[in-house]
Amino acid sequence: MYFGVDYYPEHWVYPYAGTPDAPESRWEDDIQLMLEAGVNVVRMGEFAWGLYEPEEGRLDFDWMRRAMNLFGNAGIKVVLGTPTAAPPIWLAKKHPEILPLDEHGRISHEGTRRAYCMNSGVYWDYSQKIVRALAGALGQHPALIAWQIDNGIGGHSTEVSFNDETRHDWHAWLKAKYETIRRLNDMLGLSFWAQRVTHFEDVPMPKHAPYPHNPALLIDWMRFSSDTLVAYMRMQADLLRELTPGIPVTNNLRALSRRYDHFDLAEVLDFVSLDSNATINTKSAELACEIDMIRSLKKRDVRTPDGDCGFWVIEQKAGAVNWQKVNSLVRPGVVRLFTHQLVSRGACGVLYFLWRQPRIGPEKFYGGVLGHDGSPNTRAYQEIKQIGHELRSLGPVLKGTCVAADVCILFSHENAWSLRYTNQPNDAFRYRDHIQLFYTALHDRNIPVDFARPCEDLSKYKIVFAPSLSLLAAGEADLLKIYVQNGGTLVSTFNTGLVDEHHMAPDTGYPHNLTDVFGLEVREFDPLPEGEENHLSFRAGFPATHLHPGRLWCDIIEPKGCQIIATYSKDFYAGKPAMTMNHFGDGHAVYIGTMSTQPFYNDLITWLRNLCNLHPLLKVPDTIEVSMREKDGHKIYFLLNHLNSPVRLHFYKPMHDFLSGNTFTGAYDLPPHGVLVLDEQHEQSHAPVLNESAATKIRTAARAA
Ligand code: GLA
Repeated sequence: MYFGVDYYPEHWVYPYAGTPDAPESRWEDDIQLMLEAGVNVVRMGEFAWGLYEPEEGRLDFDWMRRAMNLFGNAGIKVVLGTPTAAPPIWLAKKHPEILPLDEHGRISHEGTRRAYCMNSGVYWDYSQKIVRALAGALGQHPALIAWQIDNGIGGHSTEVSFNDETRHDWHAWLKAKYETIRRLNDMLGLSFWAQRVTHFEDVPMPKHAPYPHNPALLIDWMRFSSDTLVAYMRMQADLLRELTPGIPVTNNLRALSRRYDHFDLAEVLDFVSLDSNATINTKSAELACEIDMIRSLKKRDVRTPDGDCGFWVIEQKAGAVNWQKVNSLVRPGVVRLFTHQLVSRGACGVLYFLWRQPRIGPEKFYGGVLGHDGSPNTRAYQEIKQIGHELRSLGPVLKGTCVAADVCILFSHENAWSLRYTNQPNDAFRYRDHIQLFYTALHDRNIPVDFARPCEDLSKYKIVFAPSLSLLAAGEADLLKIYVQNGGTLVSTFNTGLVDEHHMAPDTGYPHNLTDVFGLEVREFDPLPEGEENHLSFRAGFPATHLHPGRLWCDIIEPKGCQIIATYSKDFYAGKPAMTMNHFGDGHAVYIGTMSTQPFYNDLITWLRNLCNLHPLLKVPDTIEVSMREKDGHKIYFLLNHLNSPVRLHFYKPMHDFLSGNTFTGAYDLPPHGVLVLDEQHEQSHAPVLNESAATKIRTAARAA
């Protein structure tokens, strides 16, 4: 298993480290400390353009080659970033047209990073040149095992720009999509406010305006901007595959939160990587949700450096960040716990951001493995050393194992854009929160979950949850129909099928194209202000443990053959259905017409578990997170205690723990933030994953390497 850190050799040369006579001497000390911590990979170079090319055409990759040589000789592999996330100052000075314009026409200036417009032909040319030069200079280096393209693409509103070249590309994109101006006018609904155009060149970019832009145009703009970003990344990926065909490419993503289609980007990459928020947000179900989102982006054709099927975490926080209002210290054991959470959900490479707190620049108070003084006497270093040794030993056990799920939650970026950027019936509604309610209920019952786009093949899933797919393409609705017809269980909610892919509302009832599947029609909906509630009355069969509220939104449902599971208890629609189930083909379609609170979703999962014959991975107390990785029927369970206090577990059959070498039967108190990595005890005895002598052997071998 790959385990490592994000390293910036340029931060650790004279005058920041080393001496005038041996300016790079600190690199060797760092490598020694990394080896002792079990590090076998580093990521470097993603912001180094201005050092590789201090003046146009004057290229110097020697310093990075020297660093790579040292790492390679120590047996540590290298992931190299292409440096396009930070264009050099000279480039912006020579070609100010690469600087992005925002919706007000204001320039985002040079001097930090990401100040480039992805439609700029000039920037594409310079990007190609530096990537080509980098691959030519370092692409054959024996230590190189992967490329990271750019860095954490997107964020800080850099996914969109409003430059002249952007306008030009926008019009070309629209021409390719609509072909005729009449079709464009009709499909974008430009008769509204009489905004029809006579030439493609007249279609506006949605710049700042007195009133919101046409939603259909806005969604197209987001599609176009996402396609632009993906095309820019594809350009680099294709170039690297041509120049260094054996080296896979990745990018460090954030879980579905940036303004582009993450599934589309994943198609361009050989494997997906995550920038993890663990240690800032310590809500286990929210972090687990992000991890599962990332794992789900690429379900096939994964090509990782060691051939494993999972994803990498290229930036796992080693400590506090530097951009919150209060950047609290991370408590002991937390980094280890969340690293095991990442691995338990499919990570096959974990690197910490960052090796050492930089003495220079805006990120100098970002928690590193080492502090400013470079001493290994830090809590973080000791903890990471422990994790390093644990993962090094777990590597062979986990080799080739994958995470499998019977349940999936649908997510659509186009829908997310529609909910976020166009006027909505209830501004307080948050798509991500709605998804999290379902996810947390599944997570807390230890039921593994995948995420998928509505257009994917869903046939392998026993249950598909489709929360609030307000924008649902006609073809996507057809696929959901086929899924239920063939025996699947679909759980949908209010705010589904209100518009199609053209952002056009149906004239055939909500949810469009699915009223037959659910056996109902939504006649009206009543968005509720925050704090106001209706209540649900359940019919027999639903295991309601609480008085469940309906909040934010209540659909007024006319049943057309469905079974009623719950009704509203007040207002003029008291007694009308709030939750229904319909048999359609060989499957079931459940419809939930309102948003409730967490206990409702917990009860929902209990109900669905019986209906769909779903089993939790293991029966453990609610506060223990369980995940499983599996290969050829060999199941490896991870048990994580997220509490600050011990939790009592009961083992009804002997289970072997790879971390301690112990076999558990009967009662066992899992310590605060404790982790177990278990399989069922078989005839042959397992050696402990790590005992003192194993750890010593690893250290000796690492030193020898
Ligand atoms: C992202 C970037 C890093 C660093 C951190 C700071 O993860 O990739 O370079 O700036 O943010 O939070």
